[in-house]
Amino acid sequence: MSLEIQLRSDPSHTLVADVLVVGVLQTGPKGGLSPALKPLDAALGGVLAKIVAKEEFTGKRDQSLTFATLGRIPADKVVLLGLGERRAVGAPDVRTFAAKAAKAANVEKASSLALALPAGLEGELRAVAEGLELGAYRFNKYMTGDRKPKATLGSVIVGVAAKLRPTAKATIALGQQVAAAVNFSRDLSKEPPNVLYPETFAQAAEKAAKESALKVVTFDFKEIRRRGMKLIDAVGRGSAREPRLVHISWTPKGAKRKMVFVGKGITFDTGGISIKPAAGMGDMKHDMSGAANVVGLMLAVAALKPKVEVHAIAACAENMPDGDAYRPGDIWGSLDGKTVEIVNTDAEGRLVLADALAYARTLSPDVIVDNATLTGACVVALGSTCSGWYCGHEDTAREFAAALKQSGEQMWRMPLLEDLRDQVKSDVADVKQAGDRYGGSITAALFLREFAGPGRWIHCDIAGPAALERPIAWMQAKGASGHGVLTFLAMVERASR
Ligand code: BES
Ligand code: MN
Ligand code: ZN
Repeated sequence: MSLEIQLRSDPSHTLVADVLVVGVLQTGPKGGLSPALKPLDAALGGVLAKIVAKEEFTGKRDQSLTFATLGRIPADKVVLLGLGERRAVGAPDVRTFAAKAAKAANVEKASSLALALPAGLEGELRAVAEGLELGAYRFNKYMTGDRKPKATLGSVIVGVAAKLRPTAKATIALGQQVAAAVNFSRDLSKEPPNVLYPETFAQAAEKAAKESALKVVTFDFKEIRRRGMKLIDAVGRGSAREPRLVHISWTPKGAKRKMVFVGKGITFDTGGISIKPAAGMGDMKHDMSGAANVVGLMLAVAALKPKVEVHAIAACAENMPDGDAYRPGDIWGSLDGKTVEIVNTDAEGRLVLADALAYARTLSPDVIVDNATLTGACVVALGSTCSGWYCGHEDTAREFAAALKQSGEQMWRMPLLEDLRDQVKSDVADVKQAGDRYGGSITAALFLREFAGPGRWIHCDIAGPAALERPIAWMQAKGASGHGVLTFLAMVERASR
């Protein structure tokens, strides 16, 4: 939690901050100045009405207008942000609005921000706090001297029209904790691979989990091998950095349900012996985003304290070519017992996940949800701002769709097409690791299904890790790296009700 957020029920033009961001709901077809803006216009000597008319600012969704106040009100600059029509505005839109406001404040090099929330949205304070923290987030720990940002947003005043509920402060704090959890995932995802490798990932996860009073155990390479996680062994053995499996749990008394979240934690993916081309390989430092997501999720769970048992399993390895690396043509066993014919060492994610899924099943959960930067094919299919998800159980799929609606994160359901099943059949082993080029995201999901078992299971092929970090993708995907955490949290919250 980095921001100090205060709530005020004063008119927007009296709020003292470097930048004032005003949320504007779209008015009727005639346009003109929304009545809510009249007091601000008066304080600005009528300038607002003129600019709004000249720039044809109607409060349409995503419209924005920035101008200097030249000393007429305490804030140096005013930013108007359109929210669209009231009936179309939900929590995800409020979150995005607040995130844009924080980003605008950072662009203006402001250290303080006043955010005027339109009347009627006072019920969305958690989304406001989430958005502020997500939008203010920057990863600049490796910048020194002049490269360090000149100013950092530190305090925010949220101005609301209505009287505040006594719980408002706690709601803001919860929103901040949730966003801090997502930002933790984003931090892990952005750490360079020389700093973040399986051992240090596990250390960071353990430290964060302990600080949140969560239970955590890490299996080192010896333990991974002792338990028979042969596929994690296969993927991790080509690296000087040994693999790790991290298991974090939240086990409240009298829990009604048990949910397990699994994440792919390839801290760097060279492709192994089936080595990737040089262009863009550095982006593969993000190949542990799924594992980062489930760790972040647990921190949010610790803040939320739901009445359901929640587990996170992060399967971490580095995929490197080496004299002892696994090869195409190899046949490896697995924790599940099935044997796997390796055809491409760059299809490593599904292998570490297969063992992690088999381990997840030993916890006898009601549902398993995995998430992974699993295939380039999924990015080809859906673009880089949208993830794909798979589920073979319709009631579970309905639950997940409802959670997606609540979070506002962009994920599109993909089919577990039986037609492609033959592609993961092997002539020499129980299953083949990968199919051909077409339908690559689907065949990866079909491979995982072999290890997820007959129970309720959802698989998320999360959007290209590098693309997720581009600012524009952030606005569209609404979650950035950490994409999925808010949806998984919504699932947990819904199960706890
Ligand atoms: N981590 C990659 C998938 C990826 C690449 C995600 C680029 C996002 C952006 C994964 O391990 C991989 O290399 N998958 C292969 C599978 C293929 C060899 C069957 C792929 O998608 O090409
Ligand atoms: Mn790969
Ligand atoms: Zn990978």
